[in-house]
Amino acid sequence: MQVVILDNADAVANYGANIFVRRLQRQPASVFGLATGSTPVALYQKLIQTYERGEVSFRDVTTFNLDEYLGLSGDHPQSYRHFMNQQLFEHIDINPGNTYVPPGNASNPISACEEYEQLIEKHGGIDIQLLGIGRNGHIGFNEPSSGLRSRTRVKTLTPATIDDNARFFEDDEYQPHLSITMGIGTILDSRQVVLLATGSHKADAIRDTVEGPLSAACPASALQMHTNAVVIVDEAAAARLQHADFYKHIERENQQLLAQLGIN
Ligand code: GLP
Repeated sequence: MQVVILDNADAVANYGANIFVRRLQRQPASVFGLATGSTPVALYQKLIQTYERGEVSFRDVTTFNLDEYLGLSGDHPQSYRHFMNQQLFEHIDINPGNTYVPPGNASNPISACEEYEQLIEKHGGIDIQLLGIGRNGHIGFNEPSSGLRSRTRVKTLTPATIDDNARFFEDDEYQPHLSITMGIGTILDSRQVVLLATGSHKADAIRDTVEGPLSAACPASALQMHTNAVVIVDEAAAARLQHADFYKHIERENQQLLAQLGIN
């Protein structure tokens, strides 16, 4: 696992966005796995700016979102479909028909999960999966105790996650307690994983992800098994890493090597 520790949230968004931009420039028909939550918003803004400068096109891109609330249709203002339209899709030249989010209003959620998996497979799998992380180490809506090889399925949210996400809902608004989420196994099948975390409230989860035991108690620790996973964090989220200096040393060496090889 590559661990990149940067000064602030803006640098985290920049570093993450560059990974997507470089991939897009090499491979215009990329398949991207996308995430919601507040953390990826700054990265989406960087992608929009890059598009506006004419440096990339999303014309041939396909996207699969990690998760969706069960019980919300895509036009609900708190649905993740709505979030993605507002934060990214409406500002770039992507074909809306190539943007997939699990259907929160599926009449048969169980078969909808299977169909989502098949759709990912039909598109040749995910090239880069973007992730945020919950304070309890969840990725997507894979809460602690999620099977480390799980596939897309219906998941119950923990009270802690419901509390954390309550800020997006009005006081008297219905807040779902269930979701459809890609599984940890689905995420691990992506060819590359990019996890972003900023702020001191993520420091415990990042420590457990990077340095903790591989355990369903911290679902993101499953990324230790991935061959190409990068965890990009600001200093606040890195505060509880025991080997932070070592990760910074490795990153300096990597950058030097890339510069020598003429790779940006
Ligand atoms: C939600 C999403 C996750 C996200 C997490 C953290 O639970 N399902 O994909 O990583 O929130 O969100 P934030 O980035 O707002 O802290």
